[in-house]
Amino acid sequence: MSEKKEIVLSGIRSTGNLHLGNYFGALRKFVAIQDNYDCNFFVADLHALTTSPDPEALHANVKNIIAEYLAAGLDPEKSTIFIQSDVPEISEMYLLLNMHVGIGELMRTASFKDKARKALGLGSAADNESEEAFEKEIIGAETNKRVNAGLLTYPTLMAVDILIQKATKVPVGKDQLQHLELTRRFARRFNNFYGVDLFPEPTDFDFGGAPVKVPGLDGSGKMGKSEGNCIYLIDEPKALRKKVMRAVTDEGPQAPDSPMSEPVANLFSLLELTSAPEVVESFRKSYADCSIRYGDLKKQLAEDILAITTPIRERVADILADDAYIANVVRRGAEKARERAAATLSEMRHIMGIRKF
Ligand code: TYM
Repeated sequence: MSEKKEIVLSGIRSTGNLHLGNYFGALRKFVAIQDNYDCNFFVADLHALTTSPDPEALHANVKNIIAEYLAAGLDPEKSTIFIQSDVPEISEMYLLLNMHVGIGELMRTASFKDKARKALGLGSAADNESEEAFEKEIIGAETNKRVNAGLLTYPTLMAVDILIQKATKVPVGKDQLQHLELTRRFARRFNNFYGVDLFPEPTDFDFGGAPVKVPGLDGSGKMGKSEGNCIYLIDEPKALRKKVMRAVTDEGPQAPDSPMSEPVANLFSLLELTSAPEVVESFRKSYADCSIRYGDLKKQLAEDILAITTPIRERVADILADDAYIANVVRRGAEKARERAAATLSEMRHIMGIRKF
């Protein structure tokens, strides 16, 4: 029966511990769908190399994320859990697929622009900055400030992760939708170019609503490691409460039914993800009639986040102490992931004319 299930695949980069953005955008969904799909979840360590090339940190982070996956409820009996670099077929297919990907379309990707600006120390994009000015900066960059080519081809590698397993459903947060759109485009282009039907076109996957963007609590933007505004699943209660209590707010609503400022709207977005609907409703009412006390909202939010993270944090330490268990999970995962990857790669090589004499 299991071959009939739709193939789901997703991954998280090993750039540090998992935060609430990873949890609500991705991991929570992974856990919820394990029974009903052919699930494949991995640690994207090759993607992590595009921004985090420290060998010791990379190795520790891969282990941490596997432990956090397991602690959050991913079950190796139900899901294939693996490490991207344990599947060398991915690297070969990445080379092959790149032959059908344009550098222009990669350079226009929002995540590339963001990361390239960071690598060049350029700050955030000025509204009136032209494409040419940006390209000039990249091409003219000193070698010690270069934008590495892996960053440019990040979407090719992500497309390969998905297409090599022929996955059709990809649970991700909102920030990854552009990469998924590119994946569909690359799949379609390959199929059309060779007149084959090798790759299905994957879609994002959200049972219950649209993909989420978890905000940071520093006033604007999303929660992210490079934004330095993360609440981590393994944060100790004291540190976590402190982070939440420090969240940026405003002077409070000055008239009934005032519109919300961005920092306050962000607090409500997090409250909606973590708290019971009646709790959210009661704070919305008190905002509307100007009786809200942000301190009360933050206290409630911190406790509701802790109710989610505490059981995960408590399990992580035990799992991390069991090297043999982790090694066994990822070895079995790699075996399964490689089976399908090798079959797809072999078809692809044949289609492209790379054949044995
Ligand atoms: P990464 O590590 O940046 O993010 C992992 C997952 O967490 C989600 N996420 C968020 N969701 C909502 N709000 C946030 N603030 C937030 N921050 C992170 C991301 O959307 C993502 O789902 N490129 C992928 C890793 C990857 C991948 C793949 C995913 C590599 N190959 C193939 C799916 C399929 C990434 O951005 O990881």
